[in-house]
Amino acid sequence: MRGIVTIDGPSASGKSSVAKKVAEALGVPYLSSGLLYRAAAYLARRVGVDPGDEPGILALLETYRVRLLPEVQGNRVVAEKASTLEDLTPYLHTPEVDRVVSQVARHPGVRAWVNERLREVPPPFVAEGRDMGTAVFPQAPHKFYLTATPEVRARRRTLERPQDYQEVLKELIRRDELDRAQSVPAPEAIVIDTSGMTLEEVVARVLSHIQD
Ligand code: DC
Repeated sequence: MRGIVTIDGPSASGKSSVAKKVAEALGVPYLSSGLLYRAAAYLARRVGVDPGDEPGILALLETYRVRLLPEVQGNRVVAEKASTLEDLTPYLHTPEVDRVVSQVARHPGVRAWVNERLREVPPPFVAEGRDMGTAVFPQAPHKFYLTATPEVRARRRTLERPQDYQEVLKELIRRDELDRAQSVPAPEAIVIDTSGMTLEEVVARVLSHIQD
């Protein structure tokens, strides 16, 4: 496989786990675009920049020289300021970041910045997010869109990290609404409803399409 595989879908649709396993099977890296949006949201919170302040967030991303490291074992996001390298990855999956990330990801300038970081990476790779197959890599030969009901996704989230199911479900539905504009499958994408499937089944389905 020499090209680009895109895997898009809503929050907790399983796309990160699937992208990681598909990339492993193909022997290529995977790129988690959501981590870059999360890093922008995290830094804004930490430094006290309002999530609605687009120029402020863009300035932060430049000052901290935020970069995605697409390592096979798991993507990391690092920031570099005054020659000090900081790994932001452990701080990116928290309820606080979850709450503001959609607002940060709505700024066109932030989206353009994330897309530039992703396009700097030489193919082949598997890229996952919301708009990988539409806006970022429209030329990709293999495009997938994973869905699952909000209830199944909320259940999966609570298994990953113990939390109140009703709260998680409410938050997922709220984020679906906010992310809707940039989370539409490409017309040529293969849509897979993963609600009744195991991770292994989804990975096998994706690989079988790529190998066809
Ligand atoms: O996939 P995730 O839950 O880690 O994504 C975090 C947020 O980033 C999510 O609320 C939507 C946004 N996002 C986006 O707008 N476009 C992408 N390509 C990836 C993520």
